[in-house]
Amino acid sequence: MDPSASPPQRHTLSLPAADPHALAQGAALLGAGRLVAFPTETVYGLGADAANPRAVADLYAAKGRPAFNPLIAHTATAAQAFAIGAFSAEARRLAAAFWPGPLTLVVPFAGGDAVCELARAGLATVALRVPSHPVAQALLAAFGGAVVAPSANRSGRVSPTQAAHVAADLDGRIDAILDGGPTQVGVESTIVDATGAVSRLLRPGGVPRAALEQVLGHALADAGTGDAARPASPGRLASHYAPRAAVRLEAEALAPGEALLTFAGARPPGAAAAAMTIDLSPTGDLAEAAARLYGALRALDACGAPAIAVVPLPRHGLGEAIADRLARAAAPRSAPEETPQ
Ligand code: TXA
Ligand code: MG
Repeated sequence: MDPSASPPQRHTLSLPAADPHALAQGAALLGAGRLVAFPTETVYGLGADAANPRAVADLYAAKGRPAFNPLIAHTATAAQAFAIGAFSAEARRLAAAFWPGPLTLVVPFAGGDAVCELARAGLATVALRVPSHPVAQALLAAFGGAVVAPSANRSGRVSPTQAAHVAADLDGRIDAILDGGPTQVGVESTIVDATGAVSRLLRPGGVPRAALEQVLGHALADAGTGDAARPASPGRLASHYAPRAAVRLEAEALAPGEALLTFAGARPPGAAAAAMTIDLSPTGDLAEAAARLYGALRALDACGAPAIAVVPLPRHGLGEAIADRLARAAAPRSAPEETPQ
């Protein structure tokens, strides 16, 4: 597929998630093979019927995402996920502890029609998640089947944490946006590869590493590098989650014209002249910082500064996921066909 080709124009309905009729409408649209963005506790997802290859192909086109990058299948219950994947004892322990919630488990695909081959990008494994957000739960329950949902942004852009962010990227390319207000966690789910003897952390996210390791009783292995064509977690190429402005990490001082992303009240030399300043959490709360991260990057980008300077942030707890996303936002930009998310 040519990810830069524009899909046909669609009328994008804006549906208030508080309205039960809107949820029924969203579920009916999914059943008809349409694309519906909805809030999860992490970020907004762009949903399509996981069993419908035509709908999944439309989803890849709407995002401009290369089809080799597999999608996460979301279900209302863990029992549904257990029917799609083959869960080891360790995978079941993690599911029992963290579902519903911001954890994605990669397990061997058990076969069947619930998640089509295109959504799995032809892999023998499948990524599964049971989200906890009440709107996601209600939509998945009303739909009844598995829904694949990448973050509801154009490929290579910052993930959306509000319905307005989704509209800014995808208006005219998808069929509906269920507006459930801002998301709570703010960074994507933690992805754990539970296919082998020792589970591996593929992507830090909303469940901190230490919480997972406590349940497992041992350390998580780290993701290997894999080869470039098909890395261990296929979507994890260096540059994505990227604003248009350059991102400069570990900034000890501000250069003229830069915007400032700061934390816990830190004001490095030069801060007074910043084009714009956002403090992710004046009180130093990493959960608040994660929830505000993507919105802050969007706002600082929109101020027009050529670069965003980011102060050093703590790395513990949700700080690992924040550091991961900031490193990707700062990575040298690859060509559009190599920015898959
Ligand atoms: O919080 C989240 O996870 C959000 C919400 C909407 O649920 N979704 C999300 O999806 O972040 P997406 O598509 O942006 O990221 C999914 C990641 C990609 O890096 C993809 O390569 C990886 O999951 N993935 C999917 N299936 C996989 C598999 N079988 N093996 C390894 N990685 C997989
Ligand atoms: Mg994404």
